[in-house]
Formats: sequence, C-alpha cells, structure tokens
Amino acid sequence: MNKRFRIAVVGAGRAGMVHARNAAGAVHSAELACIVDADQEVGGRAGAELGVPVFRDLSQALSATALDGVVIAAPTFAHAELAVLAAAAGKHIFCEKPMALSLKECDAMAAAAQTAGVVLQVGFVRRFQAEFVEAKKRLEAGEIGTPMVVKSLTRGPGLPPSWAQDLRRSNGMLAEVNSHDFDCVRWLAGADIERVYTETANFKGQERGVAAPDFYDNAVVSLRFASGTIGTIDGACPADYGYDARVEVLGTEGLLVVGEVRSVPVLEVRSRGTGELPTYASWPERFEPGYRAELAGFVRAAMDGSAPAVGAADGRAAVAAVLAANRSWLEGRPVLVAEELVVA
Ligand SMILES: NC(=O)c1ccc[n+]([C@@H]2O[C@H](COP(=O)([O-])OP(=O)(O)OC[C@H]3O[C@@H](n4cnc5c(N)ncnc54)[C@H](O)[C@@H]3O)[C@@H](O)[C@H]2O)c1
Repeated sequence: MNKRFRIAVVGAGRAGMVHARNAAGAVHSAELACIVDADQEVGGRAGAELGVPVFRDLSQALSATALDGVVIAAPTFAHAELAVLAAAAGKHIFCEKPMALSLKECDAMAAAAQTAGVVLQVGFVRRFQAEFVEAKKRLEAGEIGTPMVVKSLTRGPGLPPSWAQDLRRSNGMLAEVNSHDFDCVRWLAGADIERVYTETANFKGQERGVAAPDFYDNAVVSLRFASGTIGTIDGACPADYGYDARVEVLGTEGLLVVGEVRSVPVLEVRSRGTGELPTYASWPERFEPGYRAELAGFVRAAMDGSAPAVGAADGRAAVAAVLAANRSWLEGRPVLVAEELVVA
C-alpha cells in the first residue's frame, strides 16, 4: 500500500473532530498523526478517542512528529498564525473557513504557502458535496441558461461557540455561518460579488445570554455580481428546528434548486423536533460525504502537487464579501466589495 498522508489536526472542537475522525478512518489516503489543542482536556479526550499523541501547540507537534499536512480547525482568529507556522515548516495546509479575519491575514497566508511551495486549501465543503458539484456542472452545461438570480441560505441549529458570537474575534455570523453561502453563490454564479447590502436582527441573543456586543442572529444580504446577476444570502443561528442549507438559481432558461427539492406543492412547518418531513439536525450530518471528499481532495492535491479545488483566492474573496457585508450593516448603506480592497 502507498504511504498515507500524515495529518495533524489543530483544534479538536466541532469542526476539528469531523476532520480528525475522517483522517483516522473514512479517508484512506490520510492518516491521523496527532491532535493539537490549546485546551489540554479537549485534546486529551480527542487523543484518547482516536489513539494518537496530543500536543498543546502546533510548534511542539511540528518538531515531535513526522507530518505531511496540517488541518487548521482552531477559531478563525488563530488561522493566519497557524497557517504561516505550518507553511514555514513545509507542511501542506487545509484551513477551515473563514480563511481569516482580514484580507491582510489572507495575503500573508497565501504568500507563506506560495513561498514554501505547499498547498493551501480552504474548507468550503459545499464544493465537494455531490448535489452541489452536480449543480455546478449543469449550470456550466447551460441547462438553465444565464443565472439571473442566485439565492442561498444557511441556518444553524444552536448558538455558535462563545468566540464566534464576538464580531471582533470571528466577524460574526456572516463569517461563521454564511461564509459558505458567500463562496457558494460566487462559485455557482461564476462571477465575483461586487456590491452588498445587509440587514440584521437579534431575536434570541438576550434570552440565550449572549453578552458579546453587536451580536445578531439573523441576516439578509442583497448581492450584485460583476456579471450583472443579482441575489440574496440569508442566515439564522440559532434556528432551533435543525440545520438547513439551500440554494436556488433562477436562469434565463429555467430553475435549479439544491438542497430540498419538492416535486409536489407542500406547506411545511418545522419546529423543534416536530417537522413533518425529516430535517438534518447538524452540519456534520448534512455534509458528511462532502467532508470526506474535501479531505481526500486536499490529500490528493498535496500528493500530486496540483492546485486545490478551493484555494487562497477563493478564501480571500469570501472574507472580502463578509467584511463588506458587515460594513454595510454597521454603516447602514450598500457597500462595494472593492472598498474593502482599498481599506486592506
Ligand atoms: N466547514 C464547516 O462547516 C465548519 C463548521 C464549524 C466550524 N468551522 C470552522 O472551524 C473553525 C473552528 O470552529 P469550531 O466551531 O470547531 O470551534 P470550537 O470552539 O468548537 O473548537 C476550537 C478548538 O480549538 C482550540 N484552540 C484554540 N486556539 C488554538 C490554538 N492556537 N492551537 C490549537 N488549538 C486551539 C480550542 O481549545 C478548541 O478546542 C472555525 O474557523 C469555524 O468557522 C467550519
């Protein structure tokens, strides 16, 4: 058997454990070499479950273990430093979305990876999930003509971890939840997002004890793409009824719907555990095959030396869109994404 690609997973929280379990089992080209977590208890639990050594920080793991690649699943504010460290040690990098907090950080990560000649892939799992891949293929084949309107939504069931409730440490829900939508609509529309306008609302923060300033739990963003296509993104977290991710593309020749296709008219009501139709309870469940294909894609790109399917430019574009959407909300006006490029 060929040598397997040895991975350190940094951050053994919600996302890290999806990748760690896949590296340890479902993705056969990968091997989980170790876990790194700043929290000894969290790391210890992960190491005991998966039978691998545990380190408190990435530099310890880099000097103590033979590694081919690093999966970064620590909180967003730590991504840039970890990626630059991994690149300097010559390790391929898979970095969870959002790529980083600022465009400056994205550029430092991309430059470090380029200098080291390593792959840098960003965790936009929808690009690896079969129905989204098929949608892209059929759009490119022209089956619904030119995209006129692209709509994408994501709703998460529960409150995100406390660092992700804080706008300054995470860029808020638009980054934490809707980064996936910002990437997905850009990918499906085949065009960059040019202008955004955001409205937000906070319905549940106070009752759930969220103390972070500027917290919101609902957002709607209007979009204009460079191609002339228009669209919307919306997000809600916590949505309580389950995890929900859907995309609709209205083209000049037809309609494409990804996520929940209904062939008969239905009125559907979903509430906590009482949906008439089955509902995904969580994102690891909704995108389970996607996470495996994503990690396998990263290992393939690193081993072949080919470009990853989702690179630094894609991660950077989503960060720029999030920053513009946050600015739009905070300043109460439509914002050109190009303004963020000037600020950076
Ligand atoms: N692709 C997806 O669908 C998806 C889903 C959830 C989260 N994420 C992303 O994954 C990242 C992690 O989110 P999460 O929800 O898993 O967070 P989490 O809070 O559940 O876990 C983060 C873990 O990282 C550890 N950590 C913090 N700083 C560290 C450091 N410098 N080195 C090592 N470990 C460190 C913490 O102790 C914690 O155990 C975020 O960027 C988030 O946006 C992506």
